[in-house]
This record gives sequence, structure tokens and C-alpha cells, in this order.
Amino acid sequence: MLNIVHMWVNGSEVELAVDPREMLLETLRDKLNLTSVKKGCGVGECGACTVLIDGVAVDTCLYLTMWADGKHILTTEGLKGPNGELNPIQQAFIDEAAVQCGFCTPGLIMTAVEIVGTGKKYTREELRKLIAGHLCRCTGYENILNAIEKVAGLNSEVF
Ligand code: FES
Ligand code: FES
Repeated sequence: MLNIVHMWVNGSEVELAVDPREMLLETLRDKLNLTSVKKGCGVGECGACTVLIDGVAVDTCLYLTMWADGKHILTTEGLKGPNGELNPIQQAFIDEAAVQCGFCTPGLIMTAVEIVGTGKKYTREELRKLIAGHLCRCTGYENILNAIEKVAGLNSEVF
């Protein structure tokens, strides 16, 4: 039996019939074509599938789509400005060379959005803990931390 799920994705209202076992990762990638949401480990270890659900960073590989009923989902596709311009966090990742293959990047950016959204200034060690759920095989973490540090606590009005 299929379940009807009604949610908002990047500001647009979406209604879908989904299998109760379907994970939000599959729905976003395969049904809504939001391919910034990456499938890495599939078991909640790498953070590549992270999106914001009602403002909280969540691993979508562990989150059933039916749980998203009535919720607001934000993916990296939803960060771009009205003329397609990059969000300041995305720009900071570019400026700090925090991207190499880019596979981990959308998930890290969504966690960075959550961090910046708190409006708090964090120490380097605190930021390191806040991104601990993300694995990057390429750049190492220093440039990623540089990028997040650049925007965290400076301007929480960027969204
Ligand atoms: S794919 Fe979800 S945490 Fe790795
Ligand atoms: S940039 Fe390649 S996994 Fe992070």
C-alpha cells in the first residue's frame, strides 16, 4: 500500500504516493531529480545525503519519506538566489578551495547552513565536532573548516 506524503521541497509544495519503506534519499534523487543529495554509505555514516528538514540537518538515507509529511525540506538546489547566484556558504567553499571531487560538498554545505543559521560564533574545535558526521576523502578537513569559519557567526541573515 502506498502512502500519500505532502511536503515542501525547496519552497515548492509536493504531493507524492510513496512506498512506506522508501527513504527520503531515494525520493529526492529519483523522483524529484535533486541529485545534489548523494548516496554514499547508505547507513548514516558519511553525511553525503544530508538535507535540512525543518531547519535541522538530517541523513536522508535513514529517514523514511513518510516521516517528511508536513515538513519543509531544503537541499543545495534550494540555496541559489533568484538569478541563480551562489549562496555565501557555497562561495566560501569555492574561495577556500574546500571542494575537490565535490561528492561530500552538498551535504557539508547543508550542515554549514544549519551552523550559520544559529547565528553563533563557534571555536574551531566546536566546528570540527559539528561536522563530525561528514566524511571527505579528498580535501582534508582544514579547508572545509576554513570555509565554514569564514561565514559562521558573521552573518546569520544570508538565507
Ligand atoms: S549516504 Fe546517508 S550518511 Fe552516507
Ligand atoms: S571533496 Fe571529494 S569527498 Fe570531499
